[in-house]
Amino acid sequence: MPRMRLDKLLAHLNCGSRKEVQAMIRAGRVQVDGVTERDPAAKVDADTAQVVLDGQAQHYQAQRYYMLNKPAGVITASRDERHDTVLELFPEEMRRGLFAVGRLDKDTEGLLLITDDGALSHALMSPARHVDKVYEAEVEGELVPDAAARFAAGLELKDGTVCRPAQLEAAPDLGENWVRVTLREGKYHQVKRMIAAVGGVVVRLRRVELGGLTLDPALAPGAFRALTAQELTLLTQQGK
Ligand code: URA
Repeated sequence: MPRMRLDKLLAHLNCGSRKEVQAMIRAGRVQVDGVTERDPAAKVDADTAQVVLDGQAQHYQAQRYYMLNKPAGVITASRDERHDTVLELFPEEMRRGLFAVGRLDKDTEGLLLITDDGALSHALMSPARHVDKVYEAEVEGELVPDAAARFAAGLELKDGTVCRPAQLEAAPDLGENWVRVTLREGKYHQVKRMIAAVGGVVVRLRRVELGGLTLDPALAPGAFRALTAQELTLLTQQGK
């Protein structure tokens, strides 16, 4: 890793926007190798420098990983002529190289992993990996009595597509008409089509887990945060 400006490094580490981290540095809140550095343009070696902000060590990651709570109404794309995209929820200076792992429908909310790590994305999305995805859905209509058994056996969709075994459970903790669905694959509109195949209509859908990663309840819709080191380890183990 070449030497880079301290403000750029801290912004890259998601400590704040470039402007914010410059203010932090000038305020004397940042130490490099034990010495307070007040010059945002100071050059540091991102691999070896010990950078501390407000007493907390900051570690450079060559790649970036964020958990986003996708709101309804934005599409899972990097750029779009007509619609707001999930990438536009990130400040412009952070967007370069980032993309979403997998796709949620425009009206689906919840956990979306945003990264620049193509290999991890590929591994998590590979049909061979069987990474668990947990969804919470509000459903209208009466589900057939053996709906859960049909999910477990490998449900046949209305168009004849056969799904892998999946889990369907009532979720009274969420509300009267809510269910929890666990899938190990990701077909187009899969939850909506599976629920339709057992007599219901999904009126609200959110993803709450992906490969052992749980949506942080502190993240409001539209908010994101960097993954913790433990979360990243969990995910990379899933991707193996
Ligand atoms: N299943 C759906 O139907 N929609 C999503 O966005 C994700 C899973």
